Amino acid sequence: MNEITLSAIKADVGSVGGHLAPSREMVARVKEFLSREGGGILVDHHVTHLGDDICLLLSHREGVGSHEVHKLAWEAFKMGARIAREEGLYGAGQDLLRDAFSGNVRGLGPGVAELSFRERPGEAFLLLLADKTSPGALNLPLYLAFADPMHCSGLILSPSLGQGFRFTVMDVAHTKADRVIELDAPQDLYDLAALLRDNDRFVVEKVHARATGDQAVACSTTRLTAIAGRYVGKDDPVAIVRVQKDFPATGEVLAPFALAHYVPGFMRGSHIGPLMPVRAGTPVSYFDGPPQVMALAFSCHGGRLSDPVDAFDHPFWDRIRDRAADKSLEIRRQGFFGPAMLGMAELEYTGIADRLKALEARFTVRE
Ligand code: F6R
Ligand code: MG
Ligand code: MG
Repeated sequence: MNEITLSAIKADVGSVGGHLAPSREMVARVKEFLSREGGGILVDHHVTHLGDDICLLLSHREGVGSHEVHKLAWEAFKMGARIAREEGLYGAGQDLLRDAFSGNVRGLGPGVAELSFRERPGEAFLLLLADKTSPGALNLPLYLAFADPMHCSGLILSPSLGQGFRFTVMDVAHTKADRVIELDAPQDLYDLAALLRDNDRFVVEKVHARATGDQAVACSTTRLTAIAGRYVGKDDPVAIVRVQKDFPATGEVLAPFALAHYVPGFMRGSHIGPLMPVRAGTPVSYFDGPPQVMALAFSCHGGRLSDPVDAFDHPFWDRIRDRAADKSLEIRRQGFFGPAMLGMAELEYTGIADRLKALEARFTVRE
């Protein structure tokens, strides 16, 4: 096959001192495992981590949803979970929701973003990985990068980008099967905006360039809670975003993260916090957060990955991190009141629902 496939597969399989970070040993052993076992299947790989999640970036020629590639990732995470258990780490094996591998890691717990393409000369892409938040956290930055000329001036400067982008949006509340809609920017912009604002329910799954039909974006859309039937952690998203030329420039994709916009996922997956752009490998801290996102920029040639550039490891983002810290403190001042905590339907613990139920009998209706 001429096409290269990039698969980013991530999971929380245990972490040190709470939900803070995987151990060094876990990450080292997962890397070793892929180097040892990946030979016949992978062209290349890169292992990174953010908060309590480990992410495997795999390049290969097996196509999207490949049994062999997914099995390799599954086995790598199983090995990470085994070490987490041996080390007595917290939440060991947390995201591996099934005992046995069955064809594809989708539906088994790990988050997956993958796409295939005919490699361009100078193929460049970003790996975005977020922790303590949910897949809808990327709705706003992707909307701004691919549909808003105020953030992506390429949409008016480049004739190719000017033809717009096609968004595939998934209804993640629909758990029986994939329920998706395709909307074109700019023609369907208001419809797109109306869906994407509801980031608990509607999530950007893919974006394609309308000029070429090429896929620019693949995002994970996992719903761990729906798979497991009980709360088992947040669905921290991963995305691959191809950049430059007929796609937004790297900086146009990064720029919207300067908003440090509020997203769900702070403490117990039940609070709102700002999405802080951080360096790869940053652990979790204040109030089990704040929600955070990292961005590794790669070049790729014949599927071989360059050393990545850590795109948020730049003095500019220190200022944004300070703002995100201020925004965290500001919303934390009102504790669990109003918009600081998620609405009833999205609460990840049952404590409040149980309380309200117990209080039902004590309500009286005054005539
Ligand atoms: C986990 C997370 C954390 C936990 C919290 C309580 O991804 O975001 O905020 O929800 O630390 O964890 P448990 O209930 O495991 O003690
Ligand atoms: Mg966790
Ligand atoms: Mg996580």
